[in-house]
Amino acid sequence: MAAFQSVCQVGDLRVGESRMLNVGGQMVGLFNVDGEFLAVSNECPHAGASLAHGTFEGETVSCRIHHWRFCLRTGRYLDEDKPEFNARSFATRVVNGEVQVSLEPAAR
Ligand code: FES
Repeated sequence: MAAFQSVCQVGDLRVGESRMLNVGGQMVGLFNVDGEFLAVSNECPHAGASLAHGTFEGETVSCRIHHWRFCLRTGRYLDEDKPEFNARSFATRVVNGEVQVSLEPAAR
């Protein structure tokens, strides 16, 4: 069973907003995608920029430095078929109005 940690209230992150979080020492980017909370490792697999500070549209985030794109649902690097550059994705859930993140991989 994945260990979920509460990271914020649902109302803290509006649709289209993202936030960088420290979850048990792991830096996580949390994104509100049309009311669904998706989480990936915050550090860009290319050169370490914050993905939470990138721009996102739908389920795709673009890193602000060199604009590599990643799927927020799976962490997959979208610009080339190079899985070694995938970001990690993390499971999320909402319980009693709290957004929770687990460091276990998301089952998506
Ligand atoms: S640091 Fe993210 S694309 Fe280069």
